[in-house]
Amino acid sequence: MNKVTVIGAGNVGATVAECVARKDMVKEVVLIDIKEGLSEGKALDIAESAPIHLFDTQVKGVTNDYSATANSDICVITSGVPRRPGMSRDDLLGINANIVRSVTESFVAESPNAIIIVISNPLDVMTYVAHQASGFPSHRVFGMAGVLDTARFRAFLSMELGASVKDIQALLMGGHGDTMVPLPRYTSVGGIPITELLSEDRIESIVERTKSGGGEIVQLMGTSAWYAPGAAAAEMAEAIVKDSGRVLPCAVCPSGEYGLSDLFIGLPVRLGRSGIEQIVTVDLNESEQALLDVSAEHIRSNFEDLRRVLNQSEA
Ligand code: NAI
Ligand code: 2OP
Repeated sequence: MNKVTVIGAGNVGATVAECVARKDMVKEVVLIDIKEGLSEGKALDIAESAPIHLFDTQVKGVTNDYSATANSDICVITSGVPRRPGMSRDDLLGINANIVRSVTESFVAESPNAIIIVISNPLDVMTYVAHQASGFPSHRVFGMAGVLDTARFRAFLSMELGASVKDIQALLMGGHGDTMVPLPRYTSVGGIPITELLSEDRIESIVERTKSGGGEIVQLMGTSAWYAPGAAAAEMAEAIVKDSGRVLPCAVCPSGEYGLSDLFIGLPVRLGRSGIEQIVTVDLNESEQALLDVSAEHIRSNFEDLRRVLNQSEA
């Protein structure tokens, strides 16, 4: 694999481009945005760090010129607008759905065999929009959220236990938002389940902090995170480029796994050169499955909102 395109050169997109370039695993990263000069400037800045970080990946920035993205192997979609004062959630949903749909159509016309990773929010719904707009099979279109959310879970556990993040493994399913389902039974430190290391109260409080991890950063900075989201998407791209078979949580379209279908939701998957190679199933107890079902219902209601907003705008 030679080429990764990142659509949207804002905070997250530029960080994805930098993280991918620093992994020195593809020939070229193309950064594309509609704001004149933004991609070009950020790409040049990243390229100027190459002699320091010692990578050979070429980083190119373009303004809305999809011909430069031709024959990409992977595309990461980060384009969108943040919610502004006076803008309703429906307004945001409609605007971002139109942006994600149009950039996906422009991209796939140039790269019909690529794999698409969606980051734009609301994540589970935008992944569905990109899937529909691409016409690609669902193993080639999926969303980034679980890698970020488990990273937050692992970071908070490391802070609590004073343990190395290198030894902490975590599993988390569901939508990207308040209804996500961190799974303490499947979370361990050096192979020891955290249920053996922490009280129920402490686990509960770390689970709650993980669920509101995105909001915690927004409250501190007035805008959402980019370092961990960018690193998370680059980790997914690396698993694909290296065909490593890593098991990572991604927003995918299940066909009956966990009793779910016809939606995009976070589940553990094996990632490789062809994208999603397998949705991994584990046993959930009754309360874990109930939480996943609640999360799925929440995503379905977001899908309903999307259909209503799009129907209104077409009427
Ligand atoms: P940002 O505002 O810094 O960047 C967005 C960029 O998209 C802007 O540069 C804008 O010019 C560009 N853009 C808008 N319309 C475009 C179009 N039609 N074609 C190309 N570019 C276009 O926003 P930021 O912080 O980079 O966040 C990007 C998205 O990622 C947001 O929707 C945010 O909510 C989401 N996000 C998702 C996370 C996840 O875990 N899935 C984590 C963090 C952010
Ligand atoms: C995050 O989790 C807001 O989705 C964004 O940081």
